[in-house]
Amino acid sequence: MAYAAFRSIGAYVPEKILTNKELTSMVDTSDEWITKRTGIKERHIAAKDEYTSDLGMKAAQKAIQRSGIALEDIDMVVCATISPDYFCMPSTATIISTKLGLKNATAFDISAACTGFVYSLSIAKAFIESGMKKNVLIIGAEKLSAITDYSDRGTCILFGDGAGAAVISATEDKSEAIIDVHTGADGEYADLLMTPNGGSGSAHDSLEEEAGSCFMQMKGNETFKVAVRTLTKDVKEILADNNLTGNDIKHFVPHQANYRIIKAVGDALKLREEQVVLTVAKYGNTSGASIPMAINDVYESGELKAGELMLLDAFGGGLTWGSALVPFSPKK
Ligand code: COA
Repeated sequence: MAYAAFRSIGAYVPEKILTNKELTSMVDTSDEWITKRTGIKERHIAAKDEYTSDLGMKAAQKAIQRSGIALEDIDMVVCATISPDYFCMPSTATIISTKLGLKNATAFDISAACTGFVYSLSIAKAFIESGMKKNVLIIGAEKLSAITDYSDRGTCILFGDGAGAAVISATEDKSEAIIDVHTGADGEYADLLMTPNGGSGSAHDSLEEEAGSCFMQMKGNETFKVAVRTLTKDVKEILADNNLTGNDIKHFVPHQANYRIIKAVGDALKLREEQVVLTVAKYGNTSGASIPMAINDVYESGELKAGELMLLDAFGGGLTWGSALVPFSPKK
């Protein structure tokens, strides 16, 4: 049987930085409020002519180069994004695929908001274990600044741009395999986090006057409570299902939405501070890109070693959630 191995990681952040201090000239807020409530100090913002596919392509190039796998052997590209280059088509994955120089790889986007990378991981795992694909490039890429309302202090302080990518490959060595991925969703909570306009659910003639509602809208406080409850339950379940405890985890890599959510889940698992990966201060919430960007930070700091076990968890619009137990398994 083929197993799926997490071979490599890469990430890219755009150059421009938007600090909390700069936000105070745009909305009624303060560095102190943002830092205390979210842990965020700054976020990166893509240039006007820099698209989500450009961010994704740069992250993917690094991941492929670090994987030791030839570009032409990538047979599928999955891009998780809620800020695609184009609203319906072509998919951002097909654009990234072509920018990379791939010719015949299957390519498609998935929409699972901040849980997108975990969902992509489950897709890559399933395709590889079924024998349908051998080397799957998964990407989380977001230009959230394009769908952020910079007059809404409840959301604009949270989000940033960036991309991360990983290569998942077939292996016969079970010790290298992704152990488990959990995913779930509950549309009952759809209105907590949404872009209410611009889809088939809204009339064409309202688009112009309601252009602002193509931006993200969020009920932050309710989202916060559901996030802590759902994530805590999910990570406890995935550990129990696999007869593991928090002590078996080397790196806990949560979706980077809010320091207080991460802390609450880490505390519930009784994790030590050094197990918890935190990048929210410098990148903000980059939705589907946040987990691979955080893994890349650990990798580039030299702290991610072959065989070390990562626990990923994410939560986002939909609502969606997911978690994964993933050993880092670079090609030997
Ligand atoms: N600066 C200053 N004050 C702000 C503010 C800002 N940027 N945003 C909101 N406030 C105010 C509110 O207006 C409110 O004022 P009031 O008490 O006079 O009515 C007060 O701060 C508290 O608002 P509340 O929304 O209850 O704050 P909070 O502690 O829940 O923090 C978030 C707000 C958005 C930081 C927090 O709810 C959060 O992070 N939620 C989860 C978001 C998330 O993770 N989303 C993505 C999921 S992937």
